[in-house]
Amino acid sequence: MVLDRVTDELISIFEDAMRVAVLTGAGISAESGVPTFRGGGGTDVWTWRGKHITELSSAELMATDPALVWEWFDYRRGMLKSVAPNAGHYALADWEKRFSPFTLITQNIDDLHRAAGSQNVLELHGNIWKARCLRCASVFDARESPLEKNPPTCMVCGAAARPDVVLFGELLPETVFERADKAAHQCDLFFVIGTSAVVYPAAGLPISAKQCGAKIIEVNPELTDISMMADYTILGKAGEVLPRFLRNRA
Ligand code: APR
Repeated sequence: MVLDRVTDELISIFEDAMRVAVLTGAGISAESGVPTFRGGGGTDVWTWRGKHITELSSAELMATDPALVWEWFDYRRGMLKSVAPNAGHYALADWEKRFSPFTLITQNIDDLHRAAGSQNVLELHGNIWKARCLRCASVFDARESPLEKNPPTCMVCGAAARPDVVLFGELLPETVFERADKAAHQCDLFFVIGTSAVVYPAAGLPISAKQCGAKIIEVNPELTDISMMADYTILGKAGEVLPRFLRNRA
């Protein structure tokens, strides 16, 4: 069912839910001024030096030109430094206080869910403010932007480090995905928010949840590949729609 607002029926489903899981994508950060990857909802798309993200954020380029990959991520870090969470991020932080278990699974590397106060965040694609050593695999905070040194070096062994994000051509961190998959299998209500749902294995999570009997609610200004199998699709912006689920905030 495609809707243009949060109905009383949806609020009842929300209030009756016991185990909730949420998958977010770039769209939830759009109202904070962060571009998306494939557009939709009138959003800007990430562009840099005329290169496509699948090339820039690739394991292949990391192997051949790591300094360029760092420049690309530092460009994004520079932009992200000045953005703040929006009402959509804050609504999910509120939901976390209401439900237990509540699992927030994000494809975003922008750290805005945490900045909004969310605690239990599964970052499927990593975090742009972290770096990982190429020798000892230590993960450390690398928040300075612009980068003082390219590449940044490991705080433990001094070797070169890479962005602690999942690049195209790489597998997701196993433990994080296992926890996300478990939450999808065990929830009774699964939200899909601000994602075009074309990148796997993340886009498979709502399908798993549906197969296990969960209700699927999608929030996106546009229909996506998931809309066909979602029980409800609310055509709207996350920052406007999500706060409406908590009745006393309508
Ligand atoms: N609220 C909710 N959804 C929105 C909003 C908004 N305000 N504005 C846009 N959207 C929707 C768009 O309609 C689109 O469907 O957000 C979606 C963004 O899709 P993508 O740009 O494809 O981003 P995402 O699905 O997160 O991409 C998945 O692909 O490039 C890789 O690693 C990258 O994590 C990313 C993954």
